[in-house]
Amino acid sequence: MPSDKGRRQRKLWLLWTTTSIALIGALVYLMTEGENKQFFMPGPMSDGHHQIGIACESCHRDPLAGRTVLQQACIDCHGEERRKPFDSHPRSKFRDPRNADRLESINALECTTCHVEHQPEITGANGLTQPVDFCVHCHADIGTDRPSHRGMDFASCADAGCHNFHNNRALYTDFLLKHLHEPDLLERRTLPAREFASMLEELPDYPLSDHPRRQLSAADADNDRQPSLDAGALADWAQTAHARSGVNCSGCHAAPDDQGEKSAWNDHPGVQACAGCHQLELTRFERGKHGMRLAAGLTPMTPAQARLPMRENADHLQLTCTSCHTAHRFDVRHAAVEACLGCHTDRHSLAYKQSAHYRAWRRELAGEAASGSGVSCAGCHMPRVEHDINEWSSRIMVEHNQNATLSPNEKMLRPVCLHCHGLGFSLNALADRDLIERNFDGTPRVDVRSMEMAETDLKRASQEAASAR
Ligand code: HEC
Ligand code: HEC
Ligand code: HEC
Ligand code: HEC
Ligand code: HEC
Ligand code: HEC
Ligand code: HEC
Ligand code: HEC
Ligand code: HEC
Ligand code: HEC
Repeated sequence: MPSDKGRRQRKLWLLWTTTSIALIGALVYLMTEGENKQFFMPGPMSDGHHQIGIACESCHRDPLAGRTVLQQACIDCHGEERRKPFDSHPRSKFRDPRNADRLESINALECTTCHVEHQPEITGANGLTQPVDFCVHCHADIGTDRPSHRGMDFASCADAGCHNFHNNRALYTDFLLKHLHEPDLLERRTLPAREFASMLEELPDYPLSDHPRRQLSAADADNDRQPSLDAGALADWAQTAHARSGVNCSGCHAAPDDQGEKSAWNDHPGVQACAGCHQLELTRFERGKHGMRLAAGLTPMTPAQARLPMRENADHLQLTCTSCHTAHRFDVRHAAVEACLGCHTDRHSLAYKQSAHYRAWRRELAGEAASGSGVSCAGCHMPRVEHDINEWSSRIMVEHNQNATLSPNEKMLRPVCLHCHGLGFSLNALADRDLIERNFDGTPRVDVRSMEMAETDLKRASQEAASAR
């Protein structure tokens, strides 16, 4: 018979072993499956990535593989913009042997040289983790090369309206010179018109044969598989764009599955139901902060998870296509302002309704001004831009990635402001933090010197050329 002591020891052993196994199990679970993977995160994520922080594997695809794999993850998600002409310091520039010496003090080939993660103490605006004067590593001679830059502090190169490291599409010298002396408000000022509906026949991926274009009425509704007919849904659908172009109930509620087979009626079509006809909008949506969680295979973003200020009663809403478009009305005017204000409550958003832009938008809605002359939230944040369908044709699309024109905000100049304002005025407005907070209600009080400097350089260069002759 074992003694009391022996029995106690065996019990302790058993306890120790089971606890250890449980702990290891819990640890493995936490690292791979659990919602608490954050436990192993060295520090909180930057504003750009906080939504997908839990999806470690979107960046750390193979934790043992080192930096090349991490670098590839950055390129897979951001590569499109990291090329010419969108990027003036693309990696290809530094693979050129003539520039190799520049990499000795700062390795610009690797994204993580300037954008590490999990380190809020050193992370600045736009996820930058280098001191802001890092341009000095490669441009120490700029004061002698360009007299207009003499004596300037390197911490000022990237001031608003001067230069960006990546995107300088509206800031390079020739562009500034082309737009010298423009008026604040252009005479002809409208946004381009939307084109999708008029181009269905030309879009290679639109399933026109399954949904021939014709006007459908309430009597045509093919909701036979759905006995509880919703009168409101029926009326909304019959009056709007989808019924006009032959998109019946089943188009969304029994959308084909991955294999192209018609599926059973589904009361709650998700974003994939839209993708059969609007893949482009979904792809763009998933690249911005509204849709990036979906792209990472997570549940949709909700205002409760936001870092930006949001309306409290919106906490539970999920960001999908219907958060702005609602289920059957798909009213793009509602989507462009009122939908946004159903969630966003930062000072800039709340100030919008006091602005001249909102007054112009009201005039457009009332039919008192031309279509495209008003400026809604979407007018700035979801601009209508040219998209290449293939090598031969393009169409105007609504940019559903609202981050494509932010950080830095000069990315908004070409697709938005310059349709209506001069470049000099727009640069000043976008550099004025206070004016942004008031949602552009008033004249800019910041004076960006870029235009003036470009002009001075030009004059000097032509004088030098003349005297050399
Ligand atoms: C958006 C991309 C991204 C996501 C998502 C992400 N990380 Fe990281 N992580 C990084 C980057 C960038 C570094 C810095 C690497 C360097 O300095 O070379 C890093 C560094 C680390 C390090 C330090 C060791 C190393 O490899 O340098 C650990 C540990 C780590 N991450 C864990 C996690 C965990 C756990 C998660 C999920 C809960 C996570 N990370 C999510 C981008 C990410
Ligand atoms: C799974 C896709 C994904 C991966 C992987 C990824 N990012 Fe991002 N990143 C995004 C999205 C989406 C945003 C938010 C939208 C935006 O700002 O463009 C973002 C934002 C950013 C921003 C802007 C931050 C800000 O505050 O404006 C930087 C800088 C950035 N990413 C750099 C990187 C780097 C460097 C890596 C590699 C270590 C990386 N990203 C990996 C998707 C990704
Ligand atoms: C030498 C420093 C440096 C390197 C290397 C670098 N960045 Fe950046 N990045 C910046 C700076 C500075 C900003 C702030 C905006 C600007 O100046 O363009 C920025 C902004 C960004 C942004 C947000 C703004 C935008 O234009 O989209 C993204 C995304 C980004 N970087 C991704 C990357 C990726 C991906 C790589 C690697 C291919 C990379 N960066 C390499 C310095 C760098
Ligand atoms: C790793 C080296 C490196 C760093 C860091 C760097 N540059 Fe450059 N930059 C270059 C090279 C190389 C060129 C092309 C050759 C040249 O004009 O000297 C260039 C060209 C430019 C140009 C003119 C051409 C163009 O396409 O716009 C501007 C403006 C510029 N850089 C600004 C900046 C600013 C601002 C910073 C800091 C935010 C910066 N650079 C950081 C290497 C660098
Ligand atoms: C363009 C796509 C689209 C078309 C066409 C469409 N629906 Fe819907 N419908 C949706 C979406 C999206 C939802 C909302 C799903 C959710 O909230 O989860 C929805 C929801 C519904 C619901 C559930 C409502 C509820 O509150 O639970 C019914 C019933 C319905 N639709 C009937 C119809 C009928 C009948 C037609 C044709 C007359 C139709 N739908 C046409 C996209 C569509
Ligand atoms: C079977 C194809 C099809 C499906 C599925 C579909 N749509 Fe459409 N959608 C169209 C067509 C065609 C138009 C253009 C109709 C027109 O203006 O004549 C359109 C137009 C729109 C518009 C613009 C409306 C306007 O007034 O200009 C929005 C917004 C929209 N769709 C959203 C959605 C959303 C969200 C879903 C998923 C819930 C969806 N669509 C599913 C074919 C489809
Ligand atoms: C943040 C709000 C918002 C979300 C989320 C959103 N949209 Fe839109 N969408 C708009 C606005 C606003 C417009 C009209 C903009 C305009 O008139 O220039 C629009 C226009 C459209 C159009 C018409 C495009 C054209 O070129 O005529 C389609 C189609 C569309 N959306 C589909 C979708 C789909 C599919 C999703 C989900 C992947 C989605 N939208 C998510 C706000 C949104
Ligand atoms: C269902 C709620 C909801 C609706 C509707 C909505 N948003 Fe958002 N929006 C969010 C959330 C949540 C974020 C992410 C905030 C974060 O990550 O801190 C966001 C992010 C943004 C950002 C990015 C800000 C940044 O700093 O990167 C912009 C810009 C934006 N929304 C504009 C709009 C506009 C314009 C509309 C209407 C066309 C709109 N939103 C409609 C909830 C919403
Ligand atoms: C005239 C163009 C314009 C209009 C109209 C406009 N915005 Fe903006 N918005 C901007 C610019 C530019 C920024 C970038 C500010 C910066 O540089 O940080 C911005 C920033 C934002 C941000 C990010 C705020 C932050 O603190 O990071 C959100 C969210 C936003 N806007 C939502 C909206 C909503 C919602 C509306 C309509 C009610 C709206 N905006 C109307 C131009 C506009
Ligand atoms: C579709 C045309 C249009 C677009 C796009 C547009 N605006 Fe405007 N903007 C106007 C009109 C019209 C006014 C009102 C002028 C007036 O009433 O004197 C205005 C007024 C302003 C004002 C106030 C001027 C004052 O004296 O009170 C500022 C600042 C401004 N816009 C900046 C911008 C910026 C920055 C952008 C780009 C992000 C932009 N706007 C995009 C048409 C536009």
